[in-house]
Amino acid sequence: MHFRVRALLSILGLFALVYICVSLTLNQKLFPCFLSASFQQVSVTRTGVNYSQINVSSHTKYPSQQAHSTVGQQYVQQEANPDTRLKNKVRNKHTRRRRLPQCIIIGVQKAGTSALRNFLNLHPDIETAVKEIRFFNNEKSYLQGLDWYRKKMPYSFPDQITIEKSPTYFVTEQVPERIYHMNSSIKLLLLVREPVERAMSDYLQVTQKFQAKESFEAMAMTSSGEVNIQFPCVRRSMYYRYMKNWLEYFPLGQIHIVDGNLLVKDPLSEIQAVEKFLGVEQRIGRNNFYLPVNQSRGFYCIRNETWKKCLGASKGRAHPPLDPGVEAKLRNYYRSPNKKFFRMVHREFDWP
Ligand code: A3P
Repeated sequence: MHFRVRALLSILGLFALVYICVSLTLNQKLFPCFLSASFQQVSVTRTGVNYSQINVSSHTKYPSQQAHSTVGQQYVQQEANPDTRLKNKVRNKHTRRRRLPQCIIIGVQKAGTSALRNFLNLHPDIETAVKEIRFFNNEKSYLQGLDWYRKKMPYSFPDQITIEKSPTYFVTEQVPERIYHMNSSIKLLLLVREPVERAMSDYLQVTQKFQAKESFEAMAMTSSGEVNIQFPCVRRSMYYRYMKNWLEYFPLGQIHIVDGNLLVKDPLSEIQAVEKFLGVEQRIGRNNFYLPVNQSRGFYCIRNETWKKCLGASKGRAHPPLDPGVEAKLRNYYRSPNKKFFRMVHREFDWP
């Protein structure tokens, strides 16, 4: 009898142990008391900024981002919120996988798309593909199918947004339809920049790649002194031409336009608008941006407590002075396409 009771108790004990292990593994949903204890510990450790002792990867990509005074306090408060706790608990390593993007930066080339991608990648709820996949505008890639495309994406948790950036999408005719067939409710980010500046930036990039000999002025103008709209760098700045096509497939509410000129001067305001559009918490703060003292280019770099990053030399190249006559002709030429674009997107930009 005595032996049977002991055996029964041992079996019960074993069951209890297995139950605890299983529940802790399966997101600890069954034992909320364990949850709060472990999170308190994390919060205390975080405020002590002793990151080496915690497994931060299951909470944020860049834990030290929260170490800046105000953001850090906010974060501790968020940890106390049961919704956030549950959300973070779901982030165990088994739920990390490659997913199709729920948002794409579609263009335009040379409007600051790399800066936007890098800035957004600071956000703990966002994962961005590092390379431009150019899946929808490259026949060979497109024929590989969506699973090929998905495998090019970064690993993400189910509650994170995967973002891909391929700025050549904006000007390629078949892309909107193809993206629509993949996901008709996808969110799209489009950056625009003052058209003449953008055209020059485009030219500088092309020149560097293909070692073009002719000057921008010679290529942007025809021999009779008219604006040469056959020149792709000039044509790509006529945003309305391409936008029309996108609006055939996606309502304007699904396309958020980022002002590339503002992104240079005041990145935070543009990023906060994107966070709102994507429906993620406002987690990128002023502290994440800084202007390096010894950098004359005047472009913001990003940082958190442990690392800093500036874009490479191919982003933010010095533009050569443009012939004033050509500049005036181009600005004048873009007036009408700009107006058409403003009407289409129900928004004006700070260029005539
Ligand atoms: P320039 O090189 O003409 O100055 P993209 O990434 O789409 O190719 O765009 C490149 C442009 O991003 C650069 O064009 C630069 O003006 C702009 N840009 C915006 N924010 C930047 C930043 N923080 N650092 C570097 N370049 C930035």
